[in-house]
Amino acid sequence: MRVVVTGGAGFLGSHLCESLLLDFHEICVIDDMFRGKQRNLETCKSSAAEMGIPFHVVMKDASNPESFEIALRRLGGGVDVVYHLAAINGTRWFHERPDLVVKINHNTLTAALDFATSQGARFVFTSSPEAWGEQSEMPLKETSSSIFSPSNMHQRHSYGASKYIGELLVHHAIQTHSMDGRIVRPFNSYGPRLPGDNHGQVVSMLLEKCLRNEPMEIHGKGGQSRCFTWVEDVVRGIKLAGDLDSGIDGSNLTGEAFNLGSTIETSILELVDMCVEVSGSEIEPIFVASNPGDAIRRLPDITASEQALGWNAEVSLKDGIERTWAWMKNQSI
Ligand SMILES: NC(=O)c1ccc[n+]([C@@H]2O[C@H](COP(=O)([O-])OP(=O)(O)OC[C@H]3O[C@@H](n4cnc5c(N)ncnc54)[C@H](O)[C@@H]3O)[C@@H](O)[C@H]2O)c1
Repeated sequence: MRVVVTGGAGFLGSHLCESLLLDFHEICVIDDMFRGKQRNLETCKSSAAEMGIPFHVVMKDASNPESFEIALRRLGGGVDVVYHLAAINGTRWFHERPDLVVKINHNTLTAALDFATSQGARFVFTSSPEAWGEQSEMPLKETSSSIFSPSNMHQRHSYGASKYIGELLVHHAIQTHSMDGRIVRPFNSYGPRLPGDNHGQVVSMLLEKCLRNEPMEIHGKGGQSRCFTWVEDVVRGIKLAGDLDSGIDGSNLTGEAFNLGSTIETSILELVDMCVEVSGSEIEPIFVASNPGDAIRRLPDITASEQALGWNAEVSLKDGIERTWAWMKNQSI
Protein backbone atom coordinates (compact mmCIF):
# COMPACT_ATOMS: atom_id res chain seq x y z
CA MET A 1 0.00 0.00 0.00
CA ARG A 2 1.00 3.65 -0.49
CA VAL A 3 0.73 5.53 2.76
CA VAL A 4 1.06 9.14 3.91
CA VAL A 5 1.98 9.70 7.57
CA THR A 6 1.66 13.32 8.69
CA GLY A 7 3.75 14.00 11.79
CA GLY A 8 5.78 10.92 10.87
CA ALA A 9 9.04 12.27 12.33
CA GLY A 10 7.50 12.59 15.79
CA PHE A 11 7.26 10.10 18.63
CA LEU A 12 4.28 7.95 17.58
CA GLY A 13 4.70 8.72 13.87
CA SER A 14 8.25 7.38 13.63
CA HIS A 15 7.31 4.16 15.44
CA LEU A 16 4.26 3.83 13.18
CA CYS A 17 6.46 4.18 10.07
CA GLU A 18 8.78 1.45 11.36
CA SER A 19 5.82 -0.84 11.86
CA LEU A 20 4.31 -0.03 8.42
CA LEU A 21 7.63 -0.79 6.75
CA LEU A 22 7.56 -4.32 8.16
CA ASP A 23 4.53 -4.85 5.87
CA PHE A 24 6.44 -3.42 2.88
CA HIS A 25 4.22 -0.33 2.59
CA GLU A 26 5.63 2.61 0.62
CA ILE A 27 5.55 5.59 2.98
CA CYS A 28 5.71 9.34 2.56
CA VAL A 29 6.14 11.33 5.78
CA ILE A 30 5.04 14.97 5.93
CA ASP A 31 6.56 16.74 8.94
CA ASP A 32 7.77 20.32 9.38
CA MET A 33 9.99 19.23 12.31
CA PHE A 34 8.20 21.46 14.83
CA ARG A 35 8.83 18.64 17.29
CA GLY A 36 9.84 15.87 14.90
CA LYS A 37 13.48 14.92 14.43
CA GLN A 38 15.45 13.59 11.49
CA ARG A 39 17.14 11.11 13.82
CA ASN A 40 13.74 9.59 14.68
CA LEU A 41 13.61 8.42 11.05
CA GLU A 42 17.10 6.89 10.86
CA THR A 43 15.86 3.33 11.46
CA CYS A 44 13.11 3.77 8.85
CA LYS A 45 15.54 5.03 6.27
CA SER A 46 18.05 2.23 6.82
CA SER A 47 15.38 -0.53 6.97
CA ALA A 48 13.70 0.78 3.80
CA ALA A 49 17.07 0.88 2.00
CA GLU A 50 17.84 -2.71 3.08
CA MET A 51 14.39 -3.85 1.95
CA GLY A 52 14.64 -1.96 -1.35
CA ILE A 53 11.48 0.08 -0.62
CA PRO A 54 11.38 3.83 -1.26
CA PHE A 55 10.89 5.93 1.89
CA HIS A 56 10.01 9.58 1.32
CA VAL A 57 10.15 12.58 3.64
CA VAL A 58 8.51 15.91 2.78
CA MET A 59 9.86 18.36 5.34
CA LYS A 60 7.01 20.86 5.07
CA ASP A 61 3.93 22.21 6.81
CA ALA A 62 1.01 19.77 6.63
CA SER A 63 -1.40 22.75 6.79
CA ASN A 64 -0.37 23.52 3.23
CA PRO A 65 -2.13 21.46 0.51
CA GLU A 66 1.04 21.71 -1.61
CA SER A 67 2.83 19.43 0.86
CA PHE A 68 0.29 16.71 0.04
CA GLU A 69 0.69 17.30 -3.70
CA ILE A 70 4.42 16.74 -3.33
CA ALA A 71 3.75 13.58 -1.29
CA LEU A 72 1.38 12.33 -3.98
CA ARG A 73 4.00 12.81 -6.69
CA ARG A 74 6.61 11.00 -4.58
CA LEU A 75 4.19 8.08 -4.20
CA GLY A 76 3.69 7.88 -7.96
CA GLY A 77 0.26 9.51 -8.09
CA GLY A 78 -1.81 7.42 -5.70
CA VAL A 79 -2.35 6.90 -1.99
CA ASP A 80 -4.32 4.24 -0.10
CA VAL A 81 -4.20 5.39 3.53
CA VAL A 82 -3.50 8.71 5.24
CA TYR A 83 -2.50 8.47 8.91
CA HIS A 84 -2.91 11.95 10.32
CA LEU A 85 -0.67 12.48 13.35
CA ALA A 86 0.66 16.00 12.76
CA ALA A 87 -0.35 18.23 15.66
CA ILE A 88 1.11 20.36 18.39
CA ASN A 89 1.33 18.08 21.41
CA GLY A 90 2.85 18.61 24.88
CA THR A 91 0.88 20.12 27.80
CA ARG A 92 2.99 23.23 28.20
CA TRP A 93 2.24 24.29 24.64
CA PHE A 94 -1.52 24.07 25.37
CA HIS A 95 -1.16 26.75 28.05
CA GLU A 96 1.55 28.88 26.42
CA ARG A 97 0.42 28.88 22.76
CA PRO A 98 -3.26 27.95 22.58
CA ASP A 99 -3.46 30.05 19.39
CA LEU A 100 -0.85 27.88 17.67
CA VAL A 101 -2.29 24.63 19.03
CA VAL A 102 -5.78 25.41 17.69
CA LYS A 103 -4.50 26.79 14.38
CA ILE A 104 -2.05 24.01 13.54
CA ASN A 105 -4.20 21.15 14.79
CA HIS A 106 -7.18 22.45 12.82
CA ASN A 107 -5.37 23.44 9.63
CA THR A 108 -3.30 20.27 9.33
CA LEU A 109 -6.42 18.17 9.90
CA THR A 110 -8.46 19.96 7.23
CA ALA A 111 -5.62 19.80 4.68
CA ALA A 112 -5.10 16.07 5.37
CA LEU A 113 -8.84 15.36 5.27
CA ASP A 114 -9.32 17.22 1.97
CA PHE A 115 -6.39 15.32 0.50
CA ALA A 116 -7.67 11.90 1.64
CA THR A 117 -11.16 12.74 0.37
CA SER A 118 -9.90 13.86 -3.04
CA GLN A 119 -7.80 10.69 -3.37
CA GLY A 120 -10.45 8.29 -2.08
CA ALA A 121 -7.93 7.21 0.57
CA ARG A 122 -8.76 5.75 3.97
CA PHE A 123 -8.16 8.26 6.79
CA VAL A 124 -6.99 7.54 10.32
CA PHE A 125 -7.18 10.49 12.71
CA THR A 126 -5.20 10.39 15.96
CA SER A 127 -7.53 12.14 18.34
CA SER A 128 -6.97 12.10 22.10
CA PRO A 129 -8.72 11.39 25.40
CA GLU A 130 -8.20 15.15 25.97
CA ALA A 131 -11.19 15.53 23.60
CA TRP A 132 -13.31 14.58 26.67
CA GLY A 133 -11.77 17.47 28.63
CA GLU A 134 -12.48 17.16 32.35
CA GLN A 135 -15.07 14.40 32.14
CA SER A 136 -14.87 12.62 35.52
CA GLU A 137 -17.14 9.65 34.83
CA MET A 138 -14.93 6.67 34.10
CA PRO A 139 -14.29 4.69 31.98
CA LEU A 140 -14.29 7.03 28.99
CA LYS A 141 -16.46 5.60 26.23
CA GLU A 142 -18.38 6.50 23.07
CA THR A 143 -21.33 7.81 25.04
CA SER A 144 -19.24 10.02 27.38
CA SER A 145 -19.73 13.75 26.85
CA SER A 146 -16.92 16.29 26.64
CA ILE A 147 -16.63 18.76 29.52
CA PHE A 148 -14.48 21.87 29.14
CA SER A 149 -14.00 24.52 31.82
CA PRO A 150 -14.69 28.21 30.96
CA SER A 151 -12.12 29.56 28.52
CA ASN A 152 -11.21 32.52 30.74
CA MET A 153 -9.90 30.19 33.48
CA HIS A 154 -7.06 28.66 31.45
CA GLN A 155 -6.35 27.57 27.88
CA ARG A 156 -5.45 23.95 28.59
CA HIS A 157 -8.31 22.72 26.46
CA SER A 158 -7.03 24.37 23.29
CA TYR A 159 -5.66 20.91 22.50
CA GLY A 160 -8.64 18.80 23.62
CA ALA A 161 -11.07 21.13 21.86
CA SER A 162 -8.99 20.97 18.66
CA LYS A 163 -9.21 17.18 18.78
CA TYR A 164 -12.97 17.32 19.47
CA ILE A 165 -13.47 19.60 16.44
CA GLY A 166 -11.20 17.30 14.43
CA GLU A 167 -13.49 14.37 15.22
CA LEU A 168 -16.51 16.43 14.12
CA LEU A 169 -14.84 17.19 10.79
CA VAL A 170 -13.93 13.55 10.22
CA HIS A 171 -17.59 12.61 10.74
CA HIS A 172 -18.66 15.40 8.38
CA ALA A 173 -16.32 14.11 5.65
CA ILE A 174 -17.69 10.59 6.14
CA GLN A 175 -21.28 11.80 5.82
CA THR A 176 -20.83 14.21 2.92
CA HIS A 177 -18.06 12.54 0.89
CA SER A 178 -18.44 8.88 1.92
CA MET A 179 -14.84 9.01 3.13
CA ASP A 180 -13.59 5.94 4.99
CA GLY A 181 -12.50 7.69 8.20
CA ARG A 182 -11.51 6.06 11.47
CA ILE A 183 -10.55 7.70 14.77
CA VAL A 184 -8.04 6.46 17.35
CA ARG A 185 -7.44 7.88 20.82
CA PRO A 186 -4.07 6.93 22.35
CA PHE A 187 -3.93 7.08 26.16
CA ASN A 188 -0.65 8.48 27.51
CA SER A 189 1.69 6.61 25.24
CA TYR A 190 5.34 6.47 26.28
CA GLY A 191 8.58 4.86 25.14
CA PRO A 192 11.78 5.73 23.29
CA ARG A 193 11.73 9.16 21.55
CA LEU A 194 8.93 10.59 23.73
CA PRO A 195 10.18 14.14 24.40
CA GLY A 196 11.34 14.68 28.00
CA ASP A 197 12.15 18.40 27.80
CA ASN A 198 10.04 21.17 29.40
CA HIS A 199 7.45 20.81 26.65
CA GLY A 200 7.50 17.01 26.81
CA GLN A 201 5.37 14.33 28.47
CA VAL A 202 5.49 12.97 31.97
CA VAL A 203 7.21 9.56 31.70
CA SER A 204 10.17 10.92 29.73
CA MET A 205 10.28 14.13 31.79
CA LEU A 206 10.65 12.10 35.00
CA LEU A 207 13.23 9.72 33.57
CA GLU A 208 15.27 12.60 32.12
CA LYS A 209 15.42 14.16 35.59
CA CYS A 210 16.70 10.83 36.95
CA LEU A 211 19.31 10.73 34.21
CA ARG A 212 20.51 14.25 35.05
CA ASN A 213 20.39 13.71 38.81
CA GLU A 214 17.85 16.48 39.19
CA PRO A 215 14.68 16.32 41.32
CA MET A 216 11.59 14.96 39.59
CA GLU A 217 8.68 17.44 39.63
CA ILE A 218 5.26 16.30 40.79
CA HIS A 219 2.38 18.59 39.78
CA GLY A 220 -0.14 19.01 42.61
CA LYS A 221 -0.26 16.15 45.11
CA GLY A 222 0.47 13.44 42.54
CA GLY A 223 -2.78 11.57 43.15
CA GLN A 224 -3.98 12.11 39.57
CA SER A 225 -3.82 8.88 37.58
CA ARG A 226 -3.27 7.93 33.96
CA CYS A 227 -3.27 4.71 31.95
CA PHE A 228 0.24 4.67 30.55
CA THR A 229 0.46 2.69 27.33
CA TRP A 230 3.61 1.31 25.72
CA VAL A 231 4.33 2.89 22.33
CA GLU A 232 4.39 -0.38 20.35
CA ASP A 233 0.98 -1.32 21.74
CA VAL A 234 -0.47 2.05 20.67
CA VAL A 235 1.14 1.87 17.24
CA ARG A 236 -0.25 -1.65 16.68
CA GLY A 237 -3.73 -0.20 17.29
CA ILE A 238 -3.22 2.80 14.99
CA LYS A 239 -1.95 0.49 12.25
CA LEU A 240 -4.88 -1.92 12.66
CA ALA A 241 -7.29 0.99 12.29
CA GLY A 242 -5.72 1.72 8.89
CA ASP A 243 -5.08 -1.87 7.76
CA LEU A 244 -8.38 -3.59 8.36
CA ASP A 245 -11.12 -3.33 5.71
CA SER A 246 -13.68 -4.33 8.33
CA GLY A 247 -13.57 -5.30 11.98
CA ILE A 248 -12.45 -8.81 12.96
CA ASP A 249 -16.04 -9.18 14.24
CA GLY A 250 -17.33 -8.22 10.77
CA SER A 251 -18.27 -4.69 11.87
CA ASN A 252 -17.99 -1.59 9.68
CA LEU A 253 -15.03 0.48 10.93
CA THR A 254 -15.93 3.70 9.11
CA GLY A 255 -16.79 6.43 11.61
CA GLU A 256 -15.74 4.32 14.59
CA ALA A 257 -13.44 5.61 17.33
CA PHE A 258 -11.03 3.34 19.16
CA ASN A 259 -9.55 3.95 22.57
CA LEU A 260 -5.97 2.68 22.65
CA GLY A 261 -5.01 2.52 26.28
CA SER A 262 -3.97 0.25 29.08
CA THR A 263 -6.79 -0.28 31.57
CA ILE A 264 -4.43 -0.15 34.55
CA GLU A 265 -4.54 3.19 36.35
CA THR A 266 -1.29 4.46 37.83
CA SER A 267 -1.03 7.60 39.94
CA ILE A 268 1.79 10.04 39.31
CA LEU A 269 3.20 9.18 42.75
CA GLU A 270 3.27 5.48 41.77
CA LEU A 271 4.90 6.41 38.47
CA VAL A 272 7.57 8.39 40.30
CA ASP A 273 8.23 5.37 42.55
CA MET A 274 8.66 3.15 39.49
CA CYS A 275 11.06 5.62 37.88
CA VAL A 276 13.08 5.73 41.12
CA GLU A 277 13.19 1.93 41.29
CA VAL A 278 14.19 1.46 37.64
CA SER A 279 16.76 4.27 37.53
CA GLY A 280 18.14 3.93 41.05
CA SER A 281 17.78 7.71 41.48
CA GLU A 282 18.43 8.95 45.01
CA ILE A 283 17.21 12.53 44.55
CA GLU A 284 13.97 13.38 46.41
CA PRO A 285 11.12 14.55 44.13
CA ILE A 286 9.66 18.04 44.64
CA PHE A 287 6.02 19.14 44.55
CA VAL A 288 5.10 22.04 42.23
CA ALA A 289 1.83 23.79 41.32
CA SER A 290 -0.76 21.64 39.60
CA ASN A 291 -1.55 22.20 35.92
CA PRO A 292 -4.96 23.89 35.58
CA GLY A 293 -7.50 21.69 33.80
CA ASP A 294 -5.54 18.50 34.47
CA ALA A 295 -8.00 15.56 34.56
CA ILE A 296 -7.96 13.57 37.83
CA ARG A 297 -8.35 10.24 36.04
CA ARG A 298 -8.35 9.07 32.44
CA LEU A 299 -9.42 5.46 32.13
CA PRO A 300 -10.41 4.05 28.71
CA ASP A 301 -13.23 1.68 27.88
CA ILE A 302 -11.53 -0.51 25.28
CA THR A 303 -14.47 -2.80 24.46
CA ALA A 304 -14.71 -1.50 20.86
CA SER A 305 -10.96 -1.90 20.27
CA GLU A 306 -11.02 -5.44 21.65
CA GLN A 307 -14.04 -6.52 19.62
CA ALA A 308 -13.39 -4.82 16.28
CA LEU A 309 -9.57 -4.60 16.18
CA GLY A 310 -8.67 -7.51 18.47
CA TRP A 311 -6.56 -4.97 20.34
CA ASN A 312 -5.48 -4.63 23.93
CA ALA A 313 -2.36 -3.33 25.65
CA GLU A 314 0.19 -6.07 26.31
CA VAL A 315 3.31 -4.50 27.83
CA SER A 316 3.32 -3.73 31.56
CA LEU A 317 4.31 -0.26 32.74
CA LYS A 318 7.29 -1.66 34.66
CA ASP A 319 8.63 -3.41 31.52
CA GLY A 320 7.99 -0.32 29.41
CA ILE A 321 9.79 1.97 31.84
CA GLU A 322 12.76 -0.40 31.95
CA ARG A 323 12.93 -0.40 28.14
CA THR A 324 12.58 3.40 27.96
CA TRP A 325 15.26 3.89 30.62
CA ALA A 326 17.65 1.53 28.79
CA TRP A 327 17.09 3.48 25.56
CA MET A 328 17.58 6.83 27.30
CA LYS A 329 20.83 5.77 28.96
CA ASN A 330 22.11 4.48 25.64
CA GLN A 331 21.29 7.82 23.96
CA SER A 332 23.21 9.77 26.57
CA ILE A 333 26.47 7.85 26.07
N1 LIG B 1 1.71 10.58 22.64
C1 LIG B 1 0.49 10.37 23.13
O1 LIG B 1 0.34 9.75 24.20
C2 LIG B 1 -0.73 10.84 22.41
C3 LIG B 1 -1.96 10.70 23.04
C4 LIG B 1 -3.10 11.11 22.38
C5 LIG B 1 -3.01 11.63 21.10
N2 LIG B 1 -1.81 11.77 20.51
C6 LIG B 1 -1.76 12.34 19.16
O2 LIG B 1 -0.95 11.52 18.34
C7 LIG B 1 -0.26 12.33 17.40
C8 LIG B 1 1.24 12.09 17.53
O3 LIG B 1 1.62 12.47 18.85
P1 LIG B 1 3.10 12.36 19.35
O4 LIG B 1 3.06 12.07 20.78
O5 LIG B 1 3.87 11.49 18.46
O6 LIG B 1 3.55 13.88 19.22
P2 LIG B 1 4.81 14.49 18.44
O7 LIG B 1 4.83 15.93 18.79
O8 LIG B 1 6.02 13.69 18.70
O9 LIG B 1 4.39 14.28 16.92
C9 LIG B 1 3.65 15.23 16.20
C10 LIG B 1 4.45 15.54 14.95
O10 LIG B 1 3.71 16.50 14.18
C11 LIG B 1 4.66 17.38 13.61
N3 LIG B 1 4.01 18.64 13.26
C12 LIG B 1 3.55 19.63 14.07
N4 LIG B 1 3.04 20.64 13.33
C13 LIG B 1 3.18 20.27 12.03
C14 LIG B 1 2.85 20.90 10.81
N5 LIG B 1 2.26 22.10 10.74
N6 LIG B 1 3.14 20.24 9.66
C15 LIG B 1 3.73 19.02 9.68
N7 LIG B 1 4.07 18.37 10.82
C16 LIG B 1 3.80 19.01 11.98
C17 LIG B 1 5.72 17.57 14.70
O11 LIG B 1 6.93 18.05 14.17
C18 LIG B 1 5.82 16.17 15.24
O12 LIG B 1 6.82 15.43 14.59
C19 LIG B 1 -0.67 13.77 17.67
O13 LIG B 1 -1.73 14.10 16.82
C20 LIG B 1 -1.14 13.73 19.10
O14 LIG B 1 -2.07 14.73 19.36
C21 LIG B 1 -0.66 11.39 21.13
